Amino acid sequence: MSSCLIVRLSLLLSFYTSYALAASHTTKHWPRGASTRFYEFKVQKTYVTKLCNRKEIITINGMFPGPVVYAQEDDRVIVKVTNETPHNATIHWHGVRQRLSCWADGPSYITQCPIQAGQTFTYEFTLSQQKGTLLWHAHVNLASRHCAWRYCEYWHKNVLKIEKQVLASGGGPPIADAYLINGHPDLSTTALAMFYVVGSGTGNYNPLTAKLNLVDPSYLNNSLVFLWVDGLLSGVWFMHCHLEIHTSWGLSMAFLVKNGKGPLETLPHPPSDLPKC
Ligand SMILES: *[C@@H]1O[C@H](CO)[C@@H](O)[C@H](O)[C@H]1NC(C)=O
Ligand SMILES: *[C@@H]1O[C@H](CO)[C@@H](O)[C@H](O)[C@H]1NC(C)=O
Repeated sequence: MSSCLIVRLSLLLSFYTSYALAASHTTKHWPRGASTRFYEFKVQKTYVTKLCNRKEIITINGMFPGPVVYAQEDDRVIVKVTNETPHNATIHWHGVRQRLSCWADGPSYITQCPIQAGQTFTYEFTLSQQKGTLLWHAHVNLASRHCAWRYCEYWHKNVLKIEKQVLASGGGPPIADAYLINGHPDLSTTALAMFYVVGSGTGNYNPLTAKLNLVDPSYLNNSLVFLWVDGLLSGVWFMHCHLEIHTSWGLSMAFLVKNGKGPLETLPHPPSDLPKC
């Protein structure tokens, strides 16, 4: 959807307000954090000037890069998102395990319908036994490819127009006019992702002939792969390649993980403000 938007904390309400919001959304089965962090995200249009060119971008709270969410392990994080743009938007909390809160995962049309113009949705999740640096980013079509942490692709052209062209042509987006680090132009870098791979090959998967190594799978980081996914929590989970153009070609899938036994393996009802399509 928009250009990227990662940035710095804007609005931290009082503990009393945070607690009240947490209580209103919490069911007894949801994991509770040690403390509650409340943030308010307003999806807004903003103008930025980069490389002598002024253009409109979509930001959170007018900030580019967007606000940093600070929290500690086992904290409850509550982010009230209000969409003040005419475009659809969701926020994906990349790397957050979302235990019993898959609708707060953010991929639009997979775990939730998008937050439409003027709508508000409050994301709530607990960082259960999680620490380190995680990433949030927008998740409507091309929006997720623009930034990773504080590293962003930047185009002079309006990214909504680029997205329309890319989807119509089936091709890739043009090479970015610049790469930004902390919102400033810089040289490019490369990120690599690695998986345990249990098998590989080309063509369609045939369960009768496929040879899968489930005993000591090796690492590999490029090629067609079969993955062994362990420990997924109840809910719907979206898996896709991080070359976002591959998603519009259909190279993505959703895992539907059914409830297990007991309250910690049973998904509660979604919150009442979950957007509708
Ligand atoms: C992953 O790919 C890179 C680039 O092709 C290569 O240098 C690296 O050795 C690979 N890592 C593994 C674990 O296969
Ligand atoms: C926004 O989302 C709604 C609900 O899914 C959909 O009907 C509408 O077409 C979307 N708008 C755009 C501009 O994609």
